[in-house]
Amino acid sequence: DWSMETFIEEEIEQVRTIVGDKKVLCALSGGVDSSVVAVLLHKAIGDQLTCMFVDHGLLRKGEAESVEETFAKHFEMNFIKIDAQDRFLSLLEGVTDPEQKRKIIGTEFIRVFEEESNQLGEHHFLGQGTLYTDIVESGTETAQTIKSHHNVGGLPEDMKMELIEPLNTLFKDEVRRVGEQLGLPKEIVWRQPFPGPGLGIRVIGEVTADKLAIVRESDAILREEIKKAGLDQEIWQYFTALPDFRSVGVMGDARTYAYTVGIRAVTSIDGMTADWARIPYEIVERISNRIINEVDDVNRVVLDVTSKPPSTIEWE
Ligand code: XMP
Repeated sequence: DWSMETFIEEEIEQVRTIVGDKKVLCALSGGVDSSVVAVLLHKAIGDQLTCMFVDHGLLRKGEAESVEETFAKHFEMNFIKIDAQDRFLSLLEGVTDPEQKRKIIGTEFIRVFEEESNQLGEHHFLGQGTLYTDIVESGTETAQTIKSHHNVGGLPEDMKMELIEPLNTLFKDEVRRVGEQLGLPKEIVWRQPFPGPGLGIRVIGEVTADKLAIVRESDAILREEIKKAGLDQEIWQYFTALPDFRSVGVMGDARTYAYTVGIRAVTSIDGMTADWARIPYEIVERISNRIINEVDDVNRVVLDVTSKPPSTIEWE
């Protein structure tokens, strides 16, 4: 009979035994798994833990700030934020192929983390949010043959640090319960899935700062309205994507030639299959109007009405 309190107590005990007086580094992405690991480790070893958060510039609006607020301020952890936006943007310049973009982002993430952790030195252990399902599915996940998935938690095992993975016996719903028990905010525990390559695969084609701004602002509007409408629990994942074309519109008496924003919202159990979410038209209308009025260089909004399969959830 699995009890969460017992699990937490036993893991804390075990972490203390394994770590002793050594130091642990944790790569924090702001996702559920790495957040729960960080808080669990912090509870066990306090200041012997340092969390490193790499901002690749492909995050959603307000995300970096909220991660810092939660972990540095609220939990008072040793927290290091690495601003690597320029590095990622310049590497992505001129790159349009989705798989190439994923590889660049994934590889650069590891490189930045390695460089920064080498500079810190002195860490014996690397804390990772590996789940039971990650172990079971690795190698067999069919999605990997469709898109190479980059998980921010998935760092190379040839690092000098020893791995410590306190969640590797748990399923996702158990991790969420542990997170709630440890006092993590609901926004983190119940966060919708967000891909490791972030907004980099929601800007279709070449990623530029201007296009990232469009997808970031429109996504923030969508999230705000879905939440206001009370739909944020029943819709599994919702975001905007930016196709790589402009179309003609009219504003006042003037012709416009601007971008189209796509709304993607799906219901799903595990992301392997999905159905497009039937968002009420009044809410679609409000989202569309706000995106047009509030986001520069956009004159058209479309709704994605395809399920997975034949589409995938993300557009790249
Ligand atoms: P697709 O687009 O393949 O996405 O239908 C299925 C689910 O996986 C998420 N996704 C990713 N997650 N790294 C991740 O950690 C990735 O590279 C990645 N690509 C897609 C996607 O958001 C959806 O929830």
